[in-house]
Amino acid sequence: MKYKVSIRRYKDGVQYVQTYYVEAPPNTTVLDLLINIREDLDGSIAFRYACRMGVCGICAVRINGTPKLACMTKLSDLGTQDILIEPVKDKNIIKDLVVDF
Ligand code: FES
Repeated sequence: MKYKVSIRRYKDGVQYVQTYYVEAPPNTTVLDLLINIREDLDGSIAFRYACRMGVCGICAVRINGTPKLACMTKLSDLGTQDILIEPVKDKNIIKDLVVDF
């Protein structure tokens, strides 16, 4: 399935949204989608993850406006092929999706 993935990026004090068009199976997690985009399309995207099991919480992002763990959210859970991924609110953004927890 084809997804339009928009990522709110932040670098050197400038925020902008960058959009990628990605083919992925619906059971892909948002974290795996981000990893695929970084490996195949844009190595400059910053995001964090560790356990990949919903335990550490470090992969938390806002997905279409709702705070979620990227490693526990499947594309099929979202009900849309238009995905906006943003950093969590009320934290200082270090770069892109990486915030100061
Ligand atoms: S990577 Fe640890 S909760 Fe997602």
